[in-house]
Parts: sequence; C-alpha cells; structure tokens
Amino acid sequence: MAPRIPAAVGERLAKLAASGGDVADLAAFVAIPSVSAQPPHAPDVRRSAEFLRDRLRKAGLTAEIWETQGHPSVYAEWLGAAGGEAAPTILIYGHHDVQPPEPLEQWGTPPFTASVRDGRLYGRGVVDDKGQVYCHVLALEALLQETGRLPCNVKLIVEGEEEVGSAHFDALIEKKKERLRADAVLVSDTPMLDRDHPSICYGLRGLAYLEIEVAGPDHDLHSGGYGGGVANPGTALAEILASLHDKRGRVAVAGFYDDVVRMPGRERKAIAKLPFDEAGWLKTVGAPAAVGEQGWTTLERLWGRPTCDVMGVMSGYTGPGAKTILPSRALAKISCRLVPDQDPGKVASLLQAHVRKVAPAGVRVDVRVLHGGKPWRAEPRHRVFKAAARALEAAFGKPTVFIREGGSIPFVRTIADILQVPCLLVGFGLPDENAHAPNEWLDLSNFRKGTLACVGLYAEVAACIRKSPPKPAE
Ligand code: BES
Ligand code: MN
Ligand code: MN
Repeated sequence: MAPRIPAAVGERLAKLAASGGDVADLAAFVAIPSVSAQPPHAPDVRRSAEFLRDRLRKAGLTAEIWETQGHPSVYAEWLGAAGGEAAPTILIYGHHDVQPPEPLEQWGTPPFTASVRDGRLYGRGVVDDKGQVYCHVLALEALLQETGRLPCNVKLIVEGEEEVGSAHFDALIEKKKERLRADAVLVSDTPMLDRDHPSICYGLRGLAYLEIEVAGPDHDLHSGGYGGGVANPGTALAEILASLHDKRGRVAVAGFYDDVVRMPGRERKAIAKLPFDEAGWLKTVGAPAAVGEQGWTTLERLWGRPTCDVMGVMSGYTGPGAKTILPSRALAKISCRLVPDQDPGKVASLLQAHVRKVAPAGVRVDVRVLHGGKPWRAEPRHRVFKAAARALEAAFGKPTVFIREGGSIPFVRTIADILQVPCLLVGFGLPDENAHAPNEWLDLSNFRKGTLACVGLYAEVAACIRKSPPKPAE
C-alpha cells in the first residue's frame, strides 16, 4: 500500500470493490438520464444534482445545489483540516450532465441501465464524467469514514451543463469565486494516454461551434421541373464546406492562424518521446489512415493545432431509395478546436466573414454561433505536478506521463484565470471508452485504481502545498 494511503482506507475500498458495492452505487447515478442538451431531460439533470448532493452528504461533506440560469451545479465542502482556513485547500471539479445517448439502436445494453460485462461498466456517462466524479466521492467517503478527516480542506464543484458549453457556469464561478478559493484545482474529466500510463494533462483545446444555414427556394421543388433553374442549397453548402481547407489540410479561413502560438521545439520533442502507439490508436479509431494538417505528427495535430471540422450535415431527402426533390435548405454544424491564444469569438467572426465571402449566388446564408470556450495550457513546472505524479505512480504502479488533450473543458480556463493557482487534470478514462458515442464504457480496474489514486493525490498535494514557503505579508 502506498505510504500516504491509510491502511484502513485501502482495506475499505478493496472490500467495496470485491462486493461490487461501488459499481452498484455508481449505477444508480448513471440511471438518471441527465442529458443537458435535451430540454425534456432538464428535470433529470436536476434529479442527478440532487442525487449527488445527497450522496456527498452521506459521504460526510456538507453539500448544496448551486443554481445557474441553466442546469444546476452541486457544491460540497469539508473544511475541517488541521490549521483551519490556513490549511491547504483543493478544489475538485467534475460534471454530472451527460451527452445524448442517440443512436439508441447501436447500444448493446440500454444506456441508462449500467451493465457489467468483462470487467467493463457500460452506460452513458460512466466515464464522462459520472464514474470519474465517483472516484472522488468514494475516496472522500473512505477517508472521512475510516479516519474522520481529510489531509486538507476540500471543495467540490460538479457542473450540470459542461456538455452544452457551460454557457451559464462562468457567471456562477465569478459570483462564487471567494467560496471557491483554493491552492490547487483538481479535475478528473480527461483520458489517460493509455492504460499503462497514468497521465497529467496540462493543455486543452478551446472551441468555437457554429451552424451554417443555406436557404434557396422557400419550399422543396420537383428536381425535374426546377433543377437547373435555381441554385441548389445542398450544392452551395458543399461548395462552402469544401472551401474551408486547402490541399495541405490547413484551414483556409483568412486570419485563422493569426493568434496561434506555435508549439515550442522542446515540447514537440517531449511529445515525440511519449509511448504513443499510433498503429494501436488507429485500430481503435477504425479509419484507414491518420490524416490532417501536413507537417505535424498525429499527437501534435490533436493537442497543439487548431481544426475546423464538420460535425453534421443535413439537406434534402435522406430516407431509403431515391426521391427527386431539390431541397429548399441545407444546414451544417461546424466545430473549430482552438489552441492558445486563439479566441472563440474572434474565430467565429472570421468564419462568418469567410462563409459570406465564398457563398455562391442565388442562396441566402446565415451563420449562427452556438457556443465557445477558450483554450488552456499550463507550464507544468509547479512542484504540485510532481507530487501528483508520485501519487499516481503509487496507485497505478506505472510511470506518470505529461500530456495535452484535444478536448475542451471551459471551466479549466475560467478557474485558472480567476484563481491563478495550478490546475491538475488527472483523469482516469481510457481513450477508447467511447465517450459521447454508443456503448460508452468504464474500465472497472481503472476506476478502482483511480479511486485509490485520489486518496493518495489529496495527501501528496496537501503535503506539497504545506511545504511551500509562506507568502510575504502585503
Ligand atoms: N471530458 C470531455 C473533455 C475531453 C474530452 C477532454 C477528450 C479531453 C479529451 C468533456 O466532457 C467534453 O466532452 N467537452 C466538450 C466541451 C464542449 C461541449 C464545450 C467537448 O470537448 O466537446
Ligand atoms: Mn467530460
Ligand atoms: Mn464530454
């Protein structure tokens, strides 16, 4: 057992794992369909917040619902550490909302009935992010129940609208920033590089999400009677989408790269040294080849280069067989993943200007901005990163790697800017666990190692902060 994990805590968690009690507990949370994107599920998002609040109270923390203009968050704390207010404080973040489960017919078992098969738990949200939130719930509970205390003060904020862009969450964070004050932030909502490498993520891409609508005739037309007489919105949209990239895979929107900070050579070297199994990665992806902007490796493209990708296209007749209509409209959903120092608002404006410029004659084009989030990158130099790496190594018995990620978590940049303290992104997901897709799963052995790692993390991080020299008096 790692030195910083009290024996009684380790034993309690081992017993819980052996009985499957931890999985049954998580399954009840997964059973609540907290789909933030779908308005009919709004009451379920609230129910999942209430469930989590009650669960955290049972674990031994004080907990409450924090309302937003959108879906509710859960806030919990335990501030009984020796030294009181002066003791180190960790702020833990996660989210309790989940992605829509569709397409339902592709699931092997129903998305909101968590089911165990071959050491995996299947269900929507099991890894993103309910299972990872539960690593903390179980770790905090084991510590509080077995030792009566935590190694530091702990605050926990679990958001209800991460999967829809956190539109109302920033306002809550701003309002509550004094309550949220902490010495370090700990986020478990990212995958590990692979199952053999516990990972600390020091960078996330940002996002600008838009919708392009092309309108032609005011109703669908017989393509024989009218085809060739007016512009076809489907074809016009294809032309617009084709103009987004050049032959080298670069985004061909004027000004798109203006604010991009190039990855420094030393970072590229460090990334090249990571034990990334590209062939294995491609196999789990199921695509014939890894393709993207020329001049960058796959990991560099995923972590450090911006993109402009089609997320969805709709136009005309898409049912079985042939139907001869000229569609009256066409719609595309576009997401741009951003890197420092790109700004979501600025990129959205550049894209709007580009689309207006290239739109062919005879159609009306509307570009709407749906949501955005800023990119984030930290210099993982603070010694708290080393302390966290030690805790992970102890729990996993494997070396820790430092990675960036291509996904987005808007909260991280918001809190990093407000609190100006180190943010540790320590996630326990695996890259192929089908987050957002059908058959999302959670590796149960990783779930349990992750829970144990949390126990060690709190202690290592607390000890490391406590050892910091006191700040000079103002
Ligand atoms: N947990 C993910 C973020 C993530 C995914 C980080 C993969 C690293 C690798 C999070 O729940 C998520 O899906 N975020 C959205 C944010 C968006 C809706 C603003 C995303 O990245 O699409
Ligand atoms: Mn997530
Ligand atoms: Mn997600």
